[in-house]
Amino acid sequence: MSETSAEQLKGKVAFVTGGARGIGLGIATVLAERGATVAICDLAQSACDAAVSDLGTEGYTVLGTAADVTDRDSLEGAVSNVITALGQIDILVANAGVWASEGYQDRPEYNDADWDLTHSVNVRGVVHSAEAVIPHMKERGSGKIVNIASHGGRKPRGTATGRTLGLPYSVSKAGVIQWTHGLAIELAPFNINVNAVCPGELWTNMIEGIYANRQNLTDGGSGGSVREEYDESMQNTVPLGRGQTPRDIGNAVAFLSSDDASEITGQALNVNGGARMN
Ligand SMILES: NC(=O)c1ccc[n+]([C@@H]2O[C@H](COP(=O)([O-])OP(=O)(O)OC[C@H]3O[C@@H](n4cnc5c(N)ncnc54)[C@H](O)[C@@H]3O)[C@@H](O)[C@H]2O)c1
Repeated sequence: MSETSAEQLKGKVAFVTGGARGIGLGIATVLAERGATVAICDLAQSACDAAVSDLGTEGYTVLGTAADVTDRDSLEGAVSNVITALGQIDILVANAGVWASEGYQDRPEYNDADWDLTHSVNVRGVVHSAEAVIPHMKERGSGKIVNIASHGGRKPRGTATGRTLGLPYSVSKAGVIQWTHGLAIELAPFNINVNAVCPGELWTNMIEGIYANRQNLTDGGSGGSVREEYDESMQNTVPLGRGQTPRDIGNAVAFLSSDDASEITGQALNVNGGARMN
């Protein structure tokens, strides 16, 4: 990290949903390294506290506040806690997301529960998150909103069996991209930038479940571990030859949250090693 990047977000306060693990924790870490004070929001207070304790040990200023993004009231409560404690929110990272409903690893098809859950967390949760901070950002006359979509929201991925296992997820992430475009238009007069980052595939709890599902449906796949299948797939399908890391996503979010990106709004940026190019 250069000295300049340590100053990139100095004085800013960022609110990161789903920030206790995986990509969200990676984003929170990079934003903190770049000088932001970070509020981590996740389902369980204990998970928020653990993340805060880890980042605090590194010397960063962090706060944890639990909320369920599907529940507008609990989210508004978390935002209010952060504004009371830290005085402001400059950056919203709407990252909380789910792949499918319980037990999907063992199922050959998506079901109604998958449609309902992906819509309520991935779409409505992202909408609630923005709505909870917009009045505050409008009052301050500035803000940056970064939604975490997916390159799957641009084009669903098929499988050897012809099934598109994550179709409800892909549809929900397409919704996040459209929400990003529309909200950017609505908030432009208020000096609030709205963008999305579309990750490719990262080794997190979510992707482990997805590869376990694929393996279960192909009688163990190539015979390797789930992790080996993932690594092999990344080497074979990603032009840059690897899966991304949470830090890769955090770097893109930091840029879009910074003054360097003040003329960028309504965009969805793939961070996927070139795996899909539109
Ligand atoms: N891992 C990937 O390959 C990948 C690829 C593209 C996009 N994404 C997206 O990145 C984001 C993070 O994914 P991840 O891989 O870190 O997943 P993850 O499952 O490891 O982490 C998701 C986090 O969101 C939290 N969360 C889930 N539902 C919530 C709710 N209702 N309210 C508040 N928090 C909630 C979870 O508790 C968890 O901490 C998601 O939006 C996901 O769709 C992931």
